[in-house]
Amino acid sequence: MSIVITGNPGVGKHTITEEIAEKLELSILDINSIAKDAGLFEKNKDTYNVDTSKLEKILEQKISEKKIIVGHLAPYVLGKNKVKIVIVLRRDPYDLISVYKERRYTDEKSKENLGSEVLGIIAHDTISKFQEKAFQINTSGKSIREVVEKVMTLISSNEGNEEVDWLDLITKKNDLKKFFND
Ligand SMILES: Nc1ncnc2c1ncn2[C@@H]1O[C@H](COP(=O)(O)OP(=O)(O)O)[C@@H](O)[C@H]1O
Ligand SMILES: [Mg+2]
Repeated sequence: MSIVITGNPGVGKHTITEEIAEKLELSILDINSIAKDAGLFEKNKDTYNVDTSKLEKILEQKISEKKIIVGHLAPYVLGKNKVKIVIVLRRDPYDLISVYKERRYTDEKSKENLGSEVLGIIAHDTISKFQEKAFQINTSGKSIREVVEKVMTLISSNEGNEEVDWLDLITKKNDLKKFFND
């Protein structure tokens, strides 16, 4: 039964996963690297499609208690009974804009990922799949150390779940156009 860290690109998954892996002496199972090594990504303009059922089968062979799993595809490629806890990292979409600029995402790719964070698609899909095993942490305005502490508390006691509502925030600021493609 594994610990899983998921969430949209740029929320801090890999940074936090590396810290937790070191603290708990776990090795990292990176869903994207495994998909890539198995040749399961199929390029489609500037986004990728992945064969999730093949990926799920490959991952099943690799999951163990000594591993922490990381990747935005987690809710689509892991079974509920294979995992101990799934933590979705959330991040203020206004902060994600600059992360994606630094990563030189195209406007389309950036908006796709911003819209996904605003609507909380990965969080929604994670909660519907993993239910009582699913939790969220908002990384915005927190240091890496603070997020690591929050994750450790969730792992040990299931305490400290955080809800966010970015849609309400950006609607009130009249900023829907900043986050969605026309
Ligand atoms: N509180 C925080 N928790 C995690 N990452 C943070 C935090 N604050 C800033 N960052 C930064 O956010 C950026 C994106 O993190 P990264 O781990 O690459 O995200 P992901 O793997 O989800 O795409 C990194 O530059 C990281 O240092
Ligand atoms: Mg990453």
